Amino acid sequence: MKLSIFFSFVLISSFHLSSAQRYNALFNFGDSLSDTGNVVLAGLPYGMTFFGRPTGRCSDGRLVIDFIECRDFLGKSLLVVGEFGGNDYSTGLFASRNVSEVRTFVPPVSQAIAEGLERLIGLGAVDIIVPALLPVGCFPLYLTLYNTSDPEDYGPGTGCMRRHNALSWYHNTLLRRQLDRLRPKYPAVSIRFADFYAQVFDFAINPLKYGSAAQRRVGEHMALPSTPPTMSFSTMFLVLFWLFPSSQSLHYDAIFSFGDSLSDTGNVQVAGLPYGITFFGRPTGRCSNGRLVIDFIAEAVGLPLLPASTKKGNGFRQGANFAYTAATALDFDFFNRRGLGGKLWVNASLSSQIGWFEKTMPSLCSSTPACKNYFGRSLFVVGEFGGNDYNTAIFAGRSMAEVNSYVPIVIRAIRLGVERLVGHGAVDILVPGMLPIGCFPHWMPGEVQRFGDAPQCASPTSDLWASEKAFWDEDQIC
Ligand SMILES: *[C@@H]1O[C@H](CO)[C@@H](O)[C@H](O)[C@H]1NC(C)=O
Ligand SMILES: *[C@@H]1O[C@H](CO)[C@@H](O)[C@H](O)[C@H]1NC(C)=O
Ligand SMILES: *[C@@H]1O[C@H](CO)[C@@H](O)[C@H](O)[C@H]1NC(C)=O
Repeated sequence: MKLSIFFSFVLISSFHLSSAQRYNALFNFGDSLSDTGNVVLAGLPYGMTFFGRPTGRCSDGRLVIDFIECRDFLGKSLLVVGEFGGNDYSTGLFASRNVSEVRTFVPPVSQAIAEGLERLIGLGAVDIIVPALLPVGCFPLYLTLYNTSDPEDYGPGTGCMRRHNALSWYHNTLLRRQLDRLRPKYPAVSIRFADFYAQVFDFAINPLKYGSAAQRRVGEHMALPSTPPTMSFSTMFLVLFWLFPSSQSLHYDAIFSFGDSLSDTGNVQVAGLPYGITFFGRPTGRCSNGRLVIDFIAEAVGLPLLPASTKKGNGFRQGANFAYTAATALDFDFFNRRGLGGKLWVNASLSSQIGWFEKTMPSLCSSTPACKNYFGRSLFVVGEFGGNDYNTAIFAGRSMAEVNSYVPIVIRAIRLGVERLVGHGAVDILVPGMLPIGCFPHWMPGEVQRFGDAPQCASPTSDLWASEKAFWDEDQIC
């Protein structure tokens, strides 16, 4: 019940942000996650908490679709297409087909969903939401049915079944690709992917976050929703909303940040306008004309913008930013062994940055218990890291296969960094994912190529294999 409230809240907030939309009607396609009565379920507790009688919903109350309806969006129609796929796969799994075999259903399933969408678009649909498949490996049903004695089968932090979650993840990846393919084809249609996977997964690793605001735990925060790049501004608010659902009650004494140019607030001084032009009026060392995400995070939790760690000043009791433009996750030696040492712009890997943080520690807190207490009330932001590890090799003309082989090593370095901070007492850690670099103008030949209104992203850098590998290894973090 809590879960469904949370989902709809997220969806509804996204509607708010995309400027008061009005719908004439709401049409829904899906399975038990959104069936409001086509298959009638008999007997309580179905419908118990809201309707007082079974209504055919597989729920004791309302479903996500009902909450959307409650908002009474008028003026246009909104189509919710999904979730689909879960039952295609469970049909195979329940018939004792192994996950490898069921995986082969994924391409035709995602294709079928895309074909359904195209039919609806043909009928005039202009606003479509396509929900993701949930992390089925976290479902009690699957945990019971497919219980194994091999600990490797379970995510160490979540206890969810990795193989089954990987199936959902693979489905969502192919589904997103289908949506990415449709968007440029139908530029006038809004096709949104609703990342319920990330939400439920976060719930699985952070249950207390959704119950008691007082509890904070180390955890991996969710991936960004798949939104077209033009929506990045509202995405930013959504991210902040998700990360700090109850920011009123979240008090941090300090923020410590590690990363590269995406979060460097002045360690590498970039000179001259237009850097800083829109907000600060002068270059501040940010690779931006305004503020960075780390600045918005500081503002969201009521702390001053983070000073760069190389700036001497009033001390860093409210935090410091060790992020360094062009920084890599991996150390100099890694690149040097591969003949890329000379290609690094700075020697400021994640482990170096944490080393600088450790040198600062004596000025922040006086004893191990005092440090643990203080860091326990601080937010640690570790990343984004990885972009420059891959850039270094790509710029040097290395093959995508070689670059992909770095991914597990990079992820491991980030995990070790996180563990080192946990060792110092960090309990609240945010690890940003990498951006979809295939969408950067830099990676596209010549001018930014546009197909209709939607930017078309370069594909080799978002190679499925690489991201899947990262997915597996990431699971080790939690
Ligand atoms: C899964 O099932 C297929 C077909 O029954 C079989 O060929 C394959 O070896 C199985 N894979 C695993 C990992 O058990
Ligand atoms: C899996 O089965 C074993 C016994 O075979 C049991 O001890 C364990 O609790 C079960 N785990 C789950 C998650 O059901
Ligand atoms: C980079 O920094 C590390 C320690 O932070 C040091 O051991 C190493 O020698 C440095 N490498 C270069 C090439 O400066």
